[in-house]
Amino acid sequence: MKALVLSGGAGTRLRPFSYSMPKQLIPIANKPVLEHVVANIRDLGVREIGIIVGEWGPQIAAVLGDGSRLGCEITYIRQDQPLGLAHCVSLARDFLGDDDFVMYLGDNMLPQGITDIAHDFQANRPAAQVVVYKVADPRAFGVAELEPGGAVRRLVEKPPEFVSDLALIGVYFLTPAIHEAVAAIAPSARGELEITDAIQWLVARGDPVRASEYGGYWKDTGNVDDVLDCNRELLDGLIPAVDGELDDAELIGPVVVEAGARVVRSRIVGPAIIGAGTLVEDSYVGPATSIGRDCVLRATHIDHSIALDGAHIAEVKELHGSLIGRAATVGGASGTAAHRLVIGDHTRIVVAA
Ligand code: DAU
Repeated sequence: MKALVLSGGAGTRLRPFSYSMPKQLIPIANKPVLEHVVANIRDLGVREIGIIVGEWGPQIAAVLGDGSRLGCEITYIRQDQPLGLAHCVSLARDFLGDDDFVMYLGDNMLPQGITDIAHDFQANRPAAQVVVYKVADPRAFGVAELEPGGAVRRLVEKPPEFVSDLALIGVYFLTPAIHEAVAAIAPSARGELEITDAIQWLVARGDPVRASEYGGYWKDTGNVDDVLDCNRELLDGLIPAVDGELDDAELIGPVVVEAGARVVRSRIVGPAIIGAGTLVEDSYVGPATSIGRDCVLRATHIDHSIALDGAHIAEVKELHGSLIGRAATVGGASGTAAHRLVIGDHTRIVVAA
């Protein structure tokens, strides 16, 4: 079996981050989403991974390389325009050959892994096996109608009217039958070749298509709130480790202080990670917080947040639910009651009243 990871696309819901980096490289528990994805695939024993990339291809390749650091072999496949998930399958035709493959959307996080579903697929080998998850609001997803035993009756991509509350998770186990389906379908109303339509084409032809309901935690990390929620979920299982320096520091609960980091006259209540080379001074870092590499935190109180590499935060009394970009500066100024903001397009600032 091979794997195809989809990492092209625009990611407009993650603006302003998506102006300077692909959403699939946003760090969750200080590791890019794509590294979590690759780890889940490697856990299946799959080594050959094709990654579809768009204009951010060079940045993604700079992080993942040829895959040897992560125990796999990565082939990059360029998609010039985001013409749909099924378009990605047709671009990868040569890479996939006649092998079965798992297609994994590069912005989906399933921290408990997908090994049970892979075993199920390999044991029964239907033409396709999708993964579903019950959601409160299915409007943003492809959805599935199932027969009582788990066979798929119908799949619909983001139906305007209610069809089912079983959303399609971004993991699909596919056999080479999918190539015929991809060649047969037409673009959807949003102009994309939908994988949902291709799999529905197999259902309509009478091929066996099955669904497994996912029992673990799942998030499509397409917006900031979901990124923060996912970070909280992953940090919950954090194993404490202190490789950096502590000087008059109080650590409570699971805390990781990476090599070269310094925590001075500060209190950290885990689960929290302080990235390599970061300085935390006269500050409080609360639960569900990841601070990236080479950041500086001074006289600041922060919790339920992520700071990306190189961020500088000084004299901010109360930061909560924040996602702070690479090398961004956030600072209080003594002697002035006014806020001064130099912020990029589509940035969101919420100031305490
Ligand atoms: O997250 C689950 C949902 O993912 C499913 O429920 C839907 O059925 C499925 O169509 C998909 O919907 P989204 O609208 O959320 O897909 P999105 O455009 O966010 O793309 C998913 C990933 O695939 C993302 O990492 C970008 C990548 N991608 C997307 C397109 C359209 C590509 O690499 N190329 C593309 O052409």
